[in-house]
Amino acid sequence: MTLDIDRFMSLSAAVETDDLDWARLGRDGLSDDDARALRYMAATENHVVLYLRTVLTRFLTRDYAASAFLACWAYEEMQHGRALDRALTTCGRPPARARFEDGSHGAGPRGQLIATVARGVAELTPAFAATHMTWGAAQEMMAAAAYTQLAYRTRNHELSRLLLRLARDERRHQRFYYEQAARRLARSALARRLCRLGMMRLWAPVGRDVGGDAAELEFLSTLLHDNVWGRRELARIDRQIARLPGLAGFDRASRSVAHNIARYHKRQPAHAQAIRAYNSGCAPRFAAPADEPAAAE
Ligand SMILES: [Fe+2]
Ligand SMILES: [Fe+2]
Repeated sequence: MTLDIDRFMSLSAAVETDDLDWARLGRDGLSDDDARALRYMAATENHVVLYLRTVLTRFLTRDYAASAFLACWAYEEMQHGRALDRALTTCGRPPARARFEDGSHGAGPRGQLIATVARGVAELTPAFAATHMTWGAAQEMMAAAAYTQLAYRTRNHELSRLLLRLARDERRHQRFYYEQAARRLARSALARRLCRLGMMRLWAPVGRDVGGDAAELEFLSTLLHDNVWGRRELARIDRQIARLPGLAGFDRASRSVAHNIARYHKRQPAHAQAIRAYNSGCAPRFAAPADEPAAAE
């Protein structure tokens, strides 16, 4: 069944958090690595309001389905950021939202340059919307993989419940983006050319320049993907994107993350090895996940 905009809007809601045992979540606490990863993801979630400036250009604002989706999507992502910030503060860690207040929140020079170019091209042709949709689909897949991985890494049971809910939301976002991308790419050769250029040359994993700098992304890539499950998930993401019209051969998810992991092992060998050992200890949990949301292929 396709996820049309009416269905998407009827499913759209803030992630449920009232039923979580927050006292237990605070007692169980966070490892330093998991806190660092949560802060990166929370900063990325909180960034959506700035991302809307890039994506809501004149052609998309004339498209009811795309505009309505983005309004609901941004609300849900802000709620994700809020829930993650609450988990951080409950565990005695600083929240990502503080970066809004101290002015350090933003996309960084590389992100700002890409956003400026994207805004400019999007003002010129409606065909560019397909790139936004494809980009979004890939980022939602990466976010779903990140939350699933974090949910199985953490020893904090209530946090794990929250993270699996976020992963489920990301997969629903992914479905809408992906269906929009497939339709827009299929009907326009220009859309396919622009999209291929953007995805093959510029795409980077979710949160690059937003959740943290390049060095922080190297840490996160290692934490989230330096195990068998992580590599398998990245290959699956590549296959899904490569199935879209004009994107045959896409492999940037696997390639860019492998590059980041190699760099982190070189830069911080002891920490990288410790993460790898911990990740391999989590492997049985990935082999037979009890409540992992079904992947939307
Ligand atoms: Fe999210
Ligand atoms: Fe999402």
